Amino acid sequence: MTSLIFNKKIINTITIIVLVVFVSISSSCYNDAEELLYPQAACDTSNVTYNRIVLPILSSNCLSCHGGNTPSSSIRLDDYLSLKTYVDNGRLWGSVSHAASYSPMPKNATKLSTCNLRKIKIWIDSGAPNN
Ligand code: HEC
Repeated sequence: MTSLIFNKKIINTITIIVLVVFVSISSSCYNDAEELLYPQAACDTSNVTYNRIVLPILSSNCLSCHGGNTPSSSIRLDDYLSLKTYVDNGRLWGSVSHAASYSPMPKNATKLSTCNLRKIKIWIDSGAPNN
């Protein structure tokens, strides 16, 4: 009888320890950004093209202001030729990378993810083709 009670206590203690360890491990992992843990695996930089990669990033983050007929600051980024002028004069990369002396973009929002910035840079460095 006593040994049965003793065993139950041990099992309860083990259960609590296992739970505490599990919760602390899972919560510490939860707070780590996937990008920081797996920098290569999380960011697929293959086949970076204007239509497949760059345009969707601009659509979700920029074109609400820089699209249409009355774009913010008259800067139109929803049209390839206009966008290309901002690539060539350095203002696109300057603003999204938050370089000094450029207005940081997207305006009043968090900086683009490291992965999206890498993709944009790859596209710019390859000559920003209309592909
Ligand atoms: C909420 C509206 C808004 C959003 C979203 C936005 N912009 Fe802008 N952008 C502006 C305004 C307004 C200006 C004029 C400068 C200023 O007010 O900071 C500007 C300026 C710029 C400039 C010129 C910066 C310079 O210093 O020469 C570029 C390039 C630019 N934006 C690109 C982008 C890109 C790329 C994105 C998306 C990643 C983006 N913007 C998102 C409103 C916006």
